[in-house]
Amino acid sequence: MSDNARKTALITGASSGIGEAFAKVFFDEGFNLVLTARREDRLQALAEQLRKDKNGNIHVVAADLSQPSAPQKILDYCSNKNIHIDCLVNNAGYGNPGKFEEISWQSHQDFLQVMITAVTELTYLFLPGMIEKQYGRIINLASLAPMIPSPDMAGLYSPVKIFQIKFSESIHQQYLDQNIFCSAVCPGLTRSEFHVAANMHEVANSPNWLWMDSMTVAKQGFNAVMKGKSFIINGGLNKFFAVLAKAIPENLTRSIAKGLTKRSY
Ligand SMILES: NC(=O)c1ccc[n+]([C@@H]2O[C@H](COP(=O)([O-])OP(=O)(O)OC[C@H]3O[C@@H](n4cnc5c(N)ncnc54)[C@H](OP(=O)(O)O)[C@@H]3O)[C@@H](O)[C@H]2O)c1
Repeated sequence: MSDNARKTALITGASSGIGEAFAKVFFDEGFNLVLTARREDRLQALAEQLRKDKNGNIHVVAADLSQPSAPQKILDYCSNKNIHIDCLVNNAGYGNPGKFEEISWQSHQDFLQVMITAVTELTYLFLPGMIEKQYGRIINLASLAPMIPSPDMAGLYSPVKIFQIKFSESIHQQYLDQNIFCSAVCPGLTRSEFHVAANMHEVANSPNWLWMDSMTVAKQGFNAVMKGKSFIINGGLNKFFAVLAKAIPENLTRSIAKGLTKRSY
């Protein structure tokens, strides 16, 4: 991509795992970047590392997406620096495991803010610019979780991922004819900081053959949105699990999942 034609991708949750991998993939494909997450030091280190390999503009804006003001703060940062966002990757997310009623309401509220409201609001704020330019690519990091029996992740993880899948489909259909594509990318188990951050150590120790790496997930996500696919499940094994879960009785899939990940289903 020539410098004049360089487009810019805004990536949330770029300080680790799949978001960091998306930053590498977009930069490698010739995009400028706006990276956001709470850990600014991680984002700065990533920006520095990327700049060593290639030319391109990389901006870092630290933001906590559990704060309702964060999406507007990110938009204001971009507007003040005259940065047009061509691609939005709503990737930031985490697990909030535990019994639904034992988790504080504040914790549920923060979770919904990060996983639903921030995703929706960032899309709402950056979409008009995409419509104006008649070009936009939006990726929402959903999950395989709602398609298979999932462990108890506070009861809200699968529901928010279903929202992200349906929201992606809806945006994709509404803006497809304006050259704006929106993809729900649905990984299964992927090596990142996710399971350790959520204290899901038993899952983190489940067999290696169940796992994908973040880079492969990000590359597949990039290719999906560029080709205008509104939904992908990452990897053959995860696609197989999704089909299998539909085909066999739910209590059997729960027992298989329990055996593999040592969690109660
Ligand atoms: N790993 C998997 O097996 C898997 C499977 C399916 C779907 N996913 C989805 O993939 C996405 C990325 O997860 P990952 O696996 O890459 O996990 P990860 O390594 O833990 O990364 C999560 C990212 O989200 C950011 N984040 C978390 N809370 C935030 C907040 N309040 N405000 C701003 N940023 C926040 C984190 O940055 P800071 O801590 O610096 O803020 C970090 O950059 C998530 O949406 C997750 O649900 C993961």
